Amino acid sequence: MTQITVALTKGRILQETLPLLQAAGIAPLEDITRSRKLLFATNQAHIRLLILRGVDVPTYVQFGAADVGVAGKDTLLEHGGDGYYEPLDLGIAACRLMTASVAGAPPVEGRIIVATKYVNVARQFYARLGRQAEFIKLYGAMELAPILNLADEIVDIVDTGKTLAANGLEARDHIADISSRLIVNKIAMKTNYVSIQHILDALRKVVEGKQ
Ligand code: PRP
Repeated sequence: MTQITVALTKGRILQETLPLLQAAGIAPLEDITRSRKLLFATNQAHIRLLILRGVDVPTYVQFGAADVGVAGKDTLLEHGGDGYYEPLDLGIAACRLMTASVAGAPPVEGRIIVATKYVNVARQFYARLGRQAEFIKLYGAMELAPILNLADEIVDIVDTGKTLAANGLEARDHIADISSRLIVNKIAMKTNYVSIQHILDALRKVVEGKQ
């Protein structure tokens, strides 16, 4: 069989992806979570796993450096979706993409300043609302931005809401429901159809069995 490279998102998503892969019969030959390596062989000689930052997963898959990927829908929305299909919702790492601002703060009149790592998604969202907005790109700790007057609002993922609450913020508008998705490079889907379909079917069975 042709070699299939699967790009995984490290961190929280990885913790939930590995049991799904295991149940689908794909197991790394060593403990990924205890290794500094980035590329791992599996029990299936033709499947190898890449461990990446989530934001890089769609890029690897878009350009065919990886055939298959697992990434959060938030990351995929921000990337834009070029070059890959999104055939399966894995139903893991579920959360919401929300706007948030200082708890109790009155709504901003006129032009609003928004800090986020999701600049593309945020731009589309505020444009849909017809709001004039300016965007500040951040790479983390977005919760600080409204508190330190860097921005009026943030756009970020909310799971339990604890991070917002711990920083005196509250969620405002719901932008999208998020979960991790399986993505497949469009060309690989044709050229490696059998191998990829095999992986897809196995994962789909696991996901459907969990519902
Ligand atoms: C995300 C997000 C929030 C937090 C929300 O960060 O940016 O900070 O989780 O979760 P909660 O509603 O349960 O408190 P994550 O831990 O994924 O790290 P990141 O900042 O690297 O994205």
